[in-house]
Amino acid sequence: MQVLFKILRQKSHQSPHLETYTLDVEAGTTILECLNRIKWEQDGTLAFRKNCRNTICGSCGMRINGRSALACKENVGSELQQFSQVKNGELPEITIAPLGNLPVVKDLVVDMSKFWQKLEAVDPYVSTKSRSIPEREFVQTPEERSRLDQTGNCIMCGACYSECNALAVNRDFVGPHALAKAQRMVVDSRDTEVETRLEQYNQGTEGVWGCTRCYLCNAVCPMEVAPMDQIGQIKQQILDRKDAQTSRAIRHRKALVELVKQGGWVDERKFGLFVVGNYFRDLQGLLTLAPLGFRMLASGKFPLSFEPSEGTEQVRSLIESVQAKE
Ligand code: SF4
Ligand code: SF4
Ligand code: FES
Repeated sequence: MQVLFKILRQKSHQSPHLETYTLDVEAGTTILECLNRIKWEQDGTLAFRKNCRNTICGSCGMRINGRSALACKENVGSELQQFSQVKNGELPEITIAPLGNLPVVKDLVVDMSKFWQKLEAVDPYVSTKSRSIPEREFVQTPEERSRLDQTGNCIMCGACYSECNALAVNRDFVGPHALAKAQRMVVDSRDTEVETRLEQYNQGTEGVWGCTRCYLCNAVCPMEVAPMDQIGQIKQQILDRKDAQTSRAIRHRKALVELVKQGGWVDERKFGLFVVGNYFRDLQGLLTLAPLGFRMLASGKFPLSFEPSEGTEQVRSLIESVQAKE
């Protein structure tokens, strides 16, 4: 079948433009094979990365039909089935663009330096500090080893990084790939730095609290690493170790769950007092709420009473079941 490939091409520091190429391909042809054919048969100047051709090396990450994916994993048939609406007399189209959140070097080749620097920032190596190296090897039980299976599947393709909404607005956020690796370190039975790591990943919006939980990293990851779930697990470990007085971010989460358990939904009056006012301990925090409180009172928007939700019992039992599982 004839397919039109629309490829976003760009040189470093220049504006991107679309170029189109037509190929006669089979439904099962991978996007990477199509790019190879375009390069070999039509335009040798097209630049893209590839290596294993088999979903192993992570080199061929790019945006295919608007979402980040591996070119060697996706094929023409499934792309057209999912994304193409063919109009009468026109060829079906597949669009290809470079990964997002990273500067373009040329065409589909992006500069991954930041990606690697951010991975480095979570200290992605099993620590050997304060531990004597055994004579032969570090033994793990099958159960301990199995905790590394999911995160160990990451091939550093950059698809999650490319789609990350938090990174798009906060360049300090280390990113889903790095935090998935961080979780791999936290659960590794051989590592002796878990507490230090959790403190590090708890910092500001660089670590786990920078994630906006948009789910896109989970949606695009070709290896089912589920970075957002890994971030959630680190958050839980941090919350398990902290009391509500530790910081505003921790209070925010604890007060939210506590209030929803009490009333089925959030009593906004208490929420501000608990989170910003630190359960009436932080006088300065309480004072900062006063202007907002007065404005809300003046405009008749301050809730004077709170009605618990009719489904409070069900909500509470749902939360308790999830907490029991965790
Ligand atoms: S977590 Fe998934 S999407 Fe992100 S770099 Fe690893 S394999 Fe790629
Ligand atoms: S869930 Fe969090 S880490 Fe994943 S893409 Fe969204 S903001 Fe980024
Ligand atoms: S070429 Fe290696 S993952 Fe696609």
